[in-house]
Amino acid sequence: MMNNKSMTITKCKSLKGQITVPGDKSISHRGVMFGAISDGITELNGFLDGADCRSTISCFKKMGINITQDNDHVIIHGKGLNGLSQPKEILDVGNSGTTTRLISGILAGSAFESTLNGDASIQTRPMGRIMTPLKMMGADITSIKGNDCAPLKINGGNLHAIDYISPVASAQVKSCVLLAGLYCDGITSVTEPVLSRNHTELMLQGFGAEVKSENNKAFIAGRPKLIGQQITVPGDISSAAYFIVAGLICENADLLIENVNCNPTRAGILKVCEMMGANIEYLNQRIVSGEEVCDVHITTSNLHGTKVDGDLIPTLIDEIPVIAVMAAFADGDTIIADAAELKVKESNRIDSVVNNLKSMGVVCEPTEDGMIIHGRNFVNESGDKASNIHGAKIITKSDHRIAMSFAIAGLVADGKTTFDDPECVVISYPEFYNTIETIKNK
Ligand code: S3P
Repeated sequence: MMNNKSMTITKCKSLKGQITVPGDKSISHRGVMFGAISDGITELNGFLDGADCRSTISCFKKMGINITQDNDHVIIHGKGLNGLSQPKEILDVGNSGTTTRLISGILAGSAFESTLNGDASIQTRPMGRIMTPLKMMGADITSIKGNDCAPLKINGGNLHAIDYISPVASAQVKSCVLLAGLYCDGITSVTEPVLSRNHTELMLQGFGAEVKSENNKAFIAGRPKLIGQQITVPGDISSAAYFIVAGLICENADLLIENVNCNPTRAGILKVCEMMGANIEYLNQRIVSGEEVCDVHITTSNLHGTKVDGDLIPTLIDEIPVIAVMAAFADGDTIIADAAELKVKESNRIDSVVNNLKSMGVVCEPTEDGMIIHGRNFVNESGDKASNIHGAKIITKSDHRIAMSFAIAGLVADGKTTFDDPECVVISYPEFYNTIETIKNK
C-alpha cells in the first residue's frame, strides 16, 4: 500500500501490463439511488468504493434504506418510490456534485423536509441549474445562504410534469429532472443543447421505468413501479483515461485496460486519441448491464495536436485535464473550446490545468471556454527552451482529477512531481497510485 499522504512521482522507463480500473462512478451512484426507490433488492457488483459513492450510500441510509457494502459488492433493500423516510440529520453529500443534483430530484418528490450540505467545494458549485427546473415542477427548494449553492433545503411533494429545455448539457441536471418526473402524473421531458451521458435513461429502463430518447430529448413517464435489479458496474472510462494517456505518452509502453465502459456518450476521449494519431485498439466489445464495454489496448504513440470542441465536449468533460496533459506531448497546437463548464467542476479546471501545466514547463494559455496547448513546446524553470517537462509541486485544489492527470505527467517529467493534496484521489480512485506501481518500470 502506497502512502498517499506524501506521494512523489518520478519518470518511468517503461509501462507494461494488464490492469482493470474501479467501477464507473456515474453508474455506481445511480445504482444505489435507483435501488433505494425500487421495490425489492438491488445488487451491485463492481461498485466504485470511493468517497463520492460512499456519500450517496450514507444519504440513503439516513433515509431508512438498508444498504450493506463489502468492497465493490453492494446490496440495497429498496422501499419503492415513496418509501424513503425523513432524515433526522443533514444529508452530507461530501464532495459529490452527482449526489447533490440527482438526490435533489428524488427529495423534491418525497413528502418530507430535508437539508443537503457538503464540503467547501460543493458549497461553491452552482445549484441554480437544478433549482430552476425543480421550482417549475412546483418544488419548494431553497439555497439556505441565498447564493444558489448548497446548503439546500427541500420540502418535497406535489410535483407536476414539465417539458424542460435545459440551457446546459449536463447529465446531472437531466437526471435530476427525470428523477423528479418519476413523482409526477404524465410525461416529463428534458431537452439538452448537446446530448450528455445517458446512464440514467439506460438504467431506469432496466428498473422498469418508461423512458424514451429522441436525439437530445429524454422523456419519462411518471409513477412507474420500479423493481430491484442485479447490475454489473463496468470500469470507469474516466479512471481508465489516466492509463490510456500514460500508455500513449510514456516511452516503451504497452498496456491493456480491461472492462472499460465505452458508452458513446462517455467515450469522447477515445475519439480524441484517434484524432491525435494514437495506437489504440478496442478488444472484446460487449454489452454489460445495458452499457457498452470493451478492453482498451494502447502502445506508445507519436501524437499530433487537434481541436476538441462542440458536441464532443460533454462526452469527455471529466477527461479534459488528462487530455491536456496528452496534448502537451503532441506535435503542434491543441485547442480545447466550448468547455466553459470546466470552471464549475470540483475546481476551476481551466485555471488548475493551465497553471499546473505551466509549472511543469508546458507552453499553454487559458481561453474563455477552454485552453490552447502548444505541444512539445517546453521551457525550463528559467524560461529557456527545454527538451522535456520537469517535475513540480502540483496544486490540486483538492480536485481528484487534477491530482491524477498530473501524476501521469509526472511519469514523463524529469525530476520529482509532488502534490499539495495527493490523498484527494480517494474521491474516485483510492488505489490509483498503487496501480501506477504495478505497471511502472523505474
Ligand atoms: C456526471 C455528470 C457530469 C460529470 C460528473 C458526473 C453524472 O457532470 O462531470 O463527474 O454522473 O451525471 P455535469 O452533468 O454537471 O456535466
